[in-house]
Amino acid sequence: MSDPQFQKAMALADIPQGSMRPVTLNGREIVICHTKEGVYALDNVCSHAHARMCEGRLRATRIVCPLHGASFDIRDGKVLGPPATQPLPIFQVRVVDGTVEVAV
Ligand code: FES
Repeated sequence: MSDPQFQKAMALADIPQGSMRPVTLNGREIVICHTKEGVYALDNVCSHAHARMCEGRLRATRIVCPLHGASFDIRDGKVLGPPATQPLPIFQVRVVDGTVEVAV
């Protein structure tokens, strides 16, 4: 199996801890979340309907959709609260020399 292809997303310094930022990589909208536990990347489009997760809230490792309030665990994309039933796709992340890179 080949290594995942990491792409530069943004400087870690541009995402203060406890916040999230959207980025488009390979035409795919991704939200990068920086928490005390680390940096995570997920699909920026809610699995319930078309809402941008980056416009919702981040509470520790829980991301909350701005439209109907579904929530997901940012570490594995698992649904934590309805109305969503499908997980959010997640992406591998690494930080190299202060730059966040995501494998899309
Ligand atoms: S669009 Fe996210 S909960 Fe409905």
